[in-house]
This record gives sequence, C-alpha cells and structure tokens, in this order.
Amino acid sequence: MNQLFIGEIESNPVHLDLGNLQRHIACFGASGSGKTVACKVLTEELALQGIPMIIFDPQGDIASLINPETDDDLLASKGLNPDIRQQFSANTEVLIWTPGSSKGLPLSINPLQFDQVQEMDAEDRLRFFSATAKNVIELIGYDADSDDGKSTESVLSTVFDYCAQKKIHLDSFAGLIDLLTDLPESVNEIVSKICDQRDMQELIKKLRFLTIGSRKLIFETGYPATIDALLGLGEHDTGKTRLSVIYLNTLSTQEEKEFFMAYITQLLYNWMLQHPLQNGQDGLQAALYIDEIAPYLPPVKMPSCKESLMLLFKQARKYGVGCLIATQNPGDIDYKSIAQISTYLIGSLKTKQDLSKIETRIESMAPASAAELMQKIPALKKGSFLLLSPDGEKKIQQFQVRWLLTKHDVISEDQLNMLISDNWREKYQKAKNAIKAAPPKAQQEPLQMKSMEQPEEPTVQTEQSENDNMEFKQSNEEVLLVDFTLHERNLNKALKPHLEHKTLNLVALEKLESARFDYYPLLKVKMLFNNKKGIFRKKVEQVPVNLYLDYKQLNILMIDNKAMRFEALIDMDPHKIDDLDGLIFPQPKKRDEVEYDFRKLGKRIDVAEVKTMLERKYDVEVQEVDVMLYPVWHCMIQHKQNGTKRQLTVDAVMGYPLMNMNNE
Ligand SMILES: Nc1ncnc2c1ncn2[C@@H]1O[C@H](COP(=O)(O)OP(=O)(O)OP(=O)(O)O)[C@@H](O)[C@H]1O
Ligand SMILES: [Mg+2]
Repeated sequence: MNQLFIGEIESNPVHLDLGNLQRHIACFGASGSGKTVACKVLTEELALQGIPMIIFDPQGDIASLINPETDDDLLASKGLNPDIRQQFSANTEVLIWTPGSSKGLPLSINPLQFDQVQEMDAEDRLRFFSATAKNVIELIGYDADSDDGKSTESVLSTVFDYCAQKKIHLDSFAGLIDLLTDLPESVNEIVSKICDQRDMQELIKKLRFLTIGSRKLIFETGYPATIDALLGLGEHDTGKTRLSVIYLNTLSTQEEKEFFMAYITQLLYNWMLQHPLQNGQDGLQAALYIDEIAPYLPPVKMPSCKESLMLLFKQARKYGVGCLIATQNPGDIDYKSIAQISTYLIGSLKTKQDLSKIETRIESMAPASAAELMQKIPALKKGSFLLLSPDGEKKIQQFQVRWLLTKHDVISEDQLNMLISDNWREKYQKAKNAIKAAPPKAQQEPLQMKSMEQPEEPTVQTEQSENDNMEFKQSNEEVLLVDFTLHERNLNKALKPHLEHKTLNLVALEKLESARFDYYPLLKVKMLFNNKKGIFRKKVEQVPVNLYLDYKQLNILMIDNKAMRFEALIDMDPHKIDDLDGLIFPQPKKRDEVEYDFRKLGKRIDVAEVKTMLERKYDVEVQEVDVMLYPVWHCMIQHKQNGTKRQLTVDAVMGYPLMNMNNE
C-alpha cells in the first residue's frame, strides 16, 4: 500500500513511496523527454490513492487526463491492467477550469476578499496583505522591487488592513478605486506619508485597467475559486477524488498567469494553515502540480508568485500538501527556491547550464558513480528517467516511466466545450451567480431597479408601494449592454449551418444578401429559486438564478440545440434552464452612452407584472429586473436559384438563430 507504480526497470515494476511526495518531487528534462507524461503518471497514481490535486496546465496537455484510454488492448500491451483504468475512471473526477473564460468551467478570483484573515495571527495577516498588494501592483505593471513599487505596495496593504478591520467588503476593483478616491481621514493620514497625490492618481489610473476588458473577466467571470471547490472537499465532496486542472492558456499575458498562480497558491497556503494534520498524523491531504514552472521561479527577480511558491514548498510538507513541479530548463530557475524538494526525476538534459544544476546533488547521492551517471543524462530516451530518491535502497536508478491510463494529447480551447459535462456546468457555471448572490436576508430585501444617477441609493420600492412606483425613471436609468463579438466579416461562417444545402453535398443553396446590426431588448431577471430537496422535498435551499425574457412578450429565453428560443412557459426548474448565464457579460451603461433608439421599447415595463408572472410560474422570489440590450444581426438570406428571400436573425455573440422572437 501507499506505493505509486511509476514504471519499470527491465520488466520489473518500479514503485515510489507516497511519502516522497510529501517532501515534494521535481521532474527535469528537455522538451519532449516525457516530463509531462511522467508527472501525469504520478497524478494518476495519487488519484488512485485518493489524493485530490490542483494542477496548473500551461500547455493544455494535462487536461487530457479527462479522457480515459478506452483501448484495453493498448493498455495491456503497455503492461497496464485495464481494471485499474476502470478503477481510476470510477473514483476520480477531472474538472477543467478556465480562468476568465467559459470555455471550460469558468474560474474567477477575488483578491480583495479578506474574510479569511480574521483567523490569522498578526504576522500571517501582515504577510497576506503585503503579498496581495504585491500581487496586484505587479499585475498592473509596477516593478515590485522599485521604490515606486514598494511605496504603492505599502499603500495598498494599509488600505487592505483597514478594510479587514472595518469589515468593508470590496467586491471588485471598482470598489477599491472608489475607496482610494475618497479615503477616510484615518487611513489618508498614513497613506499620504507614503505617497503623494500624483502617485495616488497614477495608482488609480492603473487599477482602472483591471475593471475593463479581459482583465475584468478574471475577477468577475466564473465560479469564485476556493480550495474546497478545487479539491472537492466539504460541500463539494462527491465521494470521488477530484483533480482540478487549471487551464492557463485562456489567460492572455504572463502577468495574468503569474497573478492567478500566486493567488491560488496563497489560497492553498491559507487553507493549509486552517487544516493542519491532526496530532502528528502523517500523510498527504492534497497535492499541487505545476508543469513548466520556470517562468514562475526566475533566478533573480522575486515576483509575488515566487514568494508564495517558496513559502508553500517550505511549509506544505508539515501540512501534508505535496508539490510536484516540472521544467525543461532547470538552469533557468532559482535553484535555492526549490531547496525543499527531495525527490528528482531526471530525463534527458543537454545544456551545460541545465546539467550543472543537478551535478552536486548526484555527486552527493552517488559519489562513486556520479561521473558515469552525468554522462548518461544527455542520451536518455523519451520516457527514460533517473530517479533520485533519498529514501530508496538504491538512491539513483534509471527506469522507464509507465504509460498512462488516460490519453496524452493537447486539448485546444475549442475542444474544451465538449469535454465539460452538463452536470459540472450546472453546478459551477450557473452557480457563478453566487458571486454576486444576495446575502441570506435578501429575501426580505425590497425589489430594486437600478438607477444611474444615484448609484449608491438605487430606487427602492417597498412591497406596499410596488404597484404605484414600479415604472422606470426614464432619464436616469441604466441598461445592461452586451458587447457584440461576432463581426460582420465572420457572419458567412456563422450562418453556414443555418442555410439550406443541397441534400448530398455541402453546396449552400442560399447566401447572405445583407445584414443589419441591432440590439434585441431583453429583461434580465435576477431571483432566488426555492429549491426543495430531500425525500419529502422539505429542505429548501435558495439558489440564485437569472432568467432572460423577451422585452415585449415576456417569453422566456432558452438555449436549445444551438438556437435561442422564446417560450411562454418552460416546464423546468429555472436554475436548470440553459440560457445566457455564463455566456455573456453584460455591462451597465447609461442610456445616452448607447446607440439605440429607446423609443423602440414602446411601453415601459411593468416590473410588478414581471414579478407576478414569474412568481406564479415558478417558486421564486424576484429580486431585480434590468433591461438588457442583446446584440443581433438581422440577416437577409437569398435563395441562389429562385431568388426568394427570407429573414434570419442570429445573435452577435455566439451566432445562434433567434426563434419565436417578436417582430414588433
Ligand atoms: N513513458 C513513456 N512511454 C512511451 N512514450 C512516452 C513516454 N513518455 C513520453 N513519451 C512520448 O514522448 C512524447 C512527449 O512526452 P511529454 O509530452 O511528456 O514530453 P515533455 O517532456 O513534457 O515535453 P514538452 O517540453 O514538449 O512539454 C509523448 O507524446 C510520447 O509520445
Ligand atoms: Mg510537457
């Protein structure tokens, strides 16, 4: 037991003790030497032992752990027992998370969340605020080691400390900017000693970059990352061992990747402190695997993620969190930062610089045969590694890594969509609304309509005044706007599946004649659904959900078979209706900022009517109703042979046709 089957030496199986992982493992080897496969073998073995893992996947080839190898003959030919593959599939769940994107399971982070510090001691608190501040300033382009960087870091840590003490909840960077713009006197006094007005303006300007475009998505799109969700613990426990693969390629810049990694490692570190091993208990609770770690542990600089990683390597062992890292360039990492790692897998390394990094270790472990071993390393074949294990009887041995129980190929962003099961999307994508979920007392909160001119004090209606007071204040209200992403030049491609074709070949009988851009008005209705659970359906759990209605007919929007349909009633619990949640990111905009003739909306919406209608249909409490403009292309399609024309409207985000839309 507790033995990981990792490969063979001349047909004899090679095992590694689970305990080795507790003191961390590093895998080095040139590109193509088989590092990722070797680490995935370790991952499979850990999963078989019930150890949940968080995995950073920079190249998209770890995500394929989600695809088990189904060819039993192939497995058998590689010396693997297909029953074990079955055991792996039955007991493991692989989740692929995509930061800032809905291609996989969208994962978001809120670095301004300070609830957890309440339980920390003063030193950890200080460290936490300074690490968070450093992380943020690096993301917005400060050099953390410069004077500017250092003072900005102090400003932010001071403000964070203040927020934690006063229990001020910052739910976005916009909130932080507001606070910085108008700092309370007590904080201002400290802050003004550290930086002047101009530096403060500069900081605010830079922070604004985090509130727009793709950056914003990292913080606001997706399930808010927690270690419990990533490891499948607590309320996320399904009885299976969870492998959470964080697919880094959906982030566009290296800074974003570093930021994300630093944040998750910090979460893991905080989680460890709260979950120590019980009374001298030994063993592993969880593991972290980072492939191609070099950019995150540079030799000279000290980016925030390097600090978090070093801290993790140092402390994780006593909390039973094992780390597994791989790199093709051991010469390019700060070697001191991995001093805590005890076991090494060395594949083919060719450059002098890389070889020199491991030489001393090999010499100290096998003084007599070091020179011979060093000569072997450049010629090691794919999948062939030296195992340097301080505990093994033979400290250094050469072995062939076993083949995988799962496929090994690169999963592209576009393939992700098909790989995520509806169950997971249901659980984590829909639940993304939980980020902005109302506090538990929300059910008693009055219905709100947003108002632009008084952002702090939305027009609030009480239950009694609801009916007289439900109308919009036409001039000052805001609307939600969805940006279009389907450009006219790509329309032909998007329309292709919806055109008539000759039966047996792919020649389209229709063509796009012209297209006109427009916004289609919808209502976004935010509500709480009373989900009844348990055998007698007595347990009620309030689930935040959104529904989208056609503005004029109040029919409900549903996405079905790559089309958007509007139906008067969908006989399904509202949180199960597939709609725009997770697919779009509406932004509040002032009416006069939007190019739309609002007179087209006709009558004002009657919020009370919407509320009554939905509450009659479903067991929900409507909380908020917003007008949302959804971009569409009205296309004129012409038949190539008989010249007849028809109109087809597709949405300008996914390119799905709109069915049963109102044509008013
Ligand atoms: N244990 C093994 N047995 C047989 N073939 C292997 C083994 N490990 C790796 N290979 C072969 O080597 C190829 C490259 O392996 P892998 O992707 O693990 O390399 P890598 O070192 O991670 O490379 P990169 O630097 O490109 O990420 C695999 O696609 C596979 O064909
Ligand atoms: Mg690799």
